[in-house]
Amino acid sequence: MIWFQRKQIRQALQLVIALVGMLSFALVSASPAFAQPGTPPSALDPRGPNSQAIATLFTVVLIIAIVIFAIVEGLLLFSAWRFRSKAGDTSEPKQIHGNTRFEIAWTIAPALIVIALFVLAVNTLQTINPRPITANSDQLTVKVIGHQWWWEYQYPDLDITTSTDLVIPVGKVVNLQITSFDVIHSFWVPQLNGKTDAFPNRINASWIKADAPGTFYGQCAELCGPSHANMRTVVIALDQADFDRWVQGQKTNPAAATGDAAKGEQVFMTGPCIGCHTIEGTAAQGSCKPEDQTTGRVCGPNLTHVGSRTSIAGGTLNNTAGNLRRWLADPPGIKAGSKMPNLNLSQQDIDALVTYLTSLQ
Ligand code: CUA
Repeated sequence: MIWFQRKQIRQALQLVIALVGMLSFALVSASPAFAQPGTPPSALDPRGPNSQAIATLFTVVLIIAIVIFAIVEGLLLFSAWRFRSKAGDTSEPKQIHGNTRFEIAWTIAPALIVIALFVLAVNTLQTINPRPITANSDQLTVKVIGHQWWWEYQYPDLDITTSTDLVIPVGKVVNLQITSFDVIHSFWVPQLNGKTDAFPNRINASWIKADAPGTFYGQCAELCGPSHANMRTVVIALDQADFDRWVQGQKTNPAAATGDAAKGEQVFMTGPCIGCHTIEGTAAQGSCKPEDQTTGRVCGPNLTHVGSRTSIAGGTLNNTAGNLRRWLADPPGIKAGSKMPNLNLSQQDIDALVTYLTSLQ
C-alpha cells in the first residue's frame, strides 16, 4: 500500500522540520539583540573557565546526541525503504519476535551512555560549583542584588557600591553572592557563567573569571515583571592596573560640582531625586537599604559615580547625554513599569541634571 509509505515519509519530514525549528529557536534565544554595541553574547562563545566548562559539556552531549540521532533515523529510514510493500505483494512480512542478544545490547548500550553523561555532568558541576571564599588575594567577592529592574553590585572588601556595570579584574576568581531585593531574578552573563537564580532572603553563590580584558553582556534570565527584558547588565574585565585605578576612582567622592553642574546638583538635592538615590559626600542618601525590603519604600541605584558607567536605566541605554535626557523626561516610557516615575521635569532642569550626573565620574 503506497499510502502507508507516503504517511511515513510525511512523518519523517515533519520530524526534520520540527528539529530545524527547535534548533533555530535555540540559536536565536542564545543571541538576544542588545542595545549596547559589541558581539551579542552567546553561551557557546565562552570567555572564562566557568562558561567554558558548560559550553564543553553542551558540545559533547550534542555530538553524542547527533550520533545517536543519525544511527536511529538511519536505521528507521533504511528499514522503511528496504521492507517497503511491493506492488502486487499482499502477503504479511515475516514476523519475528525476541532476540536475547540484541535486547541485552540495546539495554546496556543506552545505560552506558546515560552513565557517561552523568559522569560528564558531575565533572562539570565540580568545575562550576562556587569556589570556597578565602582571604586569597587572587579572589574578589561581589554581592549581586537583583532589583526590579536593575542589578546592584556591592564590593564588601573594597567598600564600593555600583549598579549595572560589574567591573572585575582579569584572571581573578570573582565570587558572586547573588540575592534579590524583591522578586526572583536570575543572574546570567552567558560568556562567563550559567544562570544563577537570585532569591530574596537567600544567597546563591556562583563565580566568574574572565580570561582577558573585555566587555560581556548579561540579561536577567527569570521573568520578574514588565521590564524583565530590560534588566540587563555588563561585566567589564580590566587588567589589574586598570582595575586598581577604577577602584581608586570609585572610592574617591566626586569633586564638588561647579558651574552648570552645580545648578544640576541643586535641582537634585532640592527635588524628589534624593528620596531614592545616594550620592556619597552629599545629602542624597536615599538608595535601597536592607530594611527597605520590608518597608516597601521605593529606592534606586547609588549614583555616586554614575558618570563613569557605560549604561543607564538597568543597562537599557548607553550612558550618553542624549539618552540621559530621554530617560529623565520619561522613565516608564523607556522601561515599562519603572519604579522611577515621570517627574515632569522642565527641559531646563533636565539639562542641568544631565550636566551634573555626567560630571559624577
Ligand atoms: Cu529580573 Cu527578569
